[in-house]
Amino acid sequence: MSPHASSTRRFGFSAGHRYRVEAWTPAENERVFGRLTVPHGHNYTLDVTVRGPIDPQTGMVIDLAELKRIVTETVVERFDHADLNADPLFRGRVPTTENVAIAVWELLAPKLGADRLAQVRVWEDPTLYVDVRGEPPGGEPSGDMAVDVRGEPQ
Ligand code: NI
Repeated sequence: MSPHASSTRRFGFSAGHRYRVEAWTPAENERVFGRLTVPHGHNYTLDVTVRGPIDPQTGMVIDLAELKRIVTETVVERFDHADLNADPLFRGRVPTTENVAIAVWELLAPKLGADRLAQVRVWEDPTLYVDVRGEPPGGEPSGDMAVDVRGEPQ
């Protein structure tokens, strides 16, 4: 069995959003989300990790140029300088960092393979990130995702 490894490539995109639950009144949204109801933007950082066996010929888990092309075409070109609330991916889904990470996972899993896509990490700013991971290899293929939120005090 050839050795396995994880390879991560970093991307960036700038996007706008606001937090708002459509079914709620403005007062309810204001009470729960406060200033986050006001449209504003973030410079997001996206780390995409792919895992798998290291190809004995190429010495690679994945061609990182190919990974760059797929993520750029699928995610970066879609979200960069976009209003996330206007994207159909966020219809009925508040564009929190958690939901941005899940949307990125949903966009990339069909392209990279859910078994090869190990983790999507979305940084909203340098102090806060969210990880979404699929099932570990050998786990039940339930399609469940694990979401971790990490933040540091500003
Ligand atoms: Ni925000």
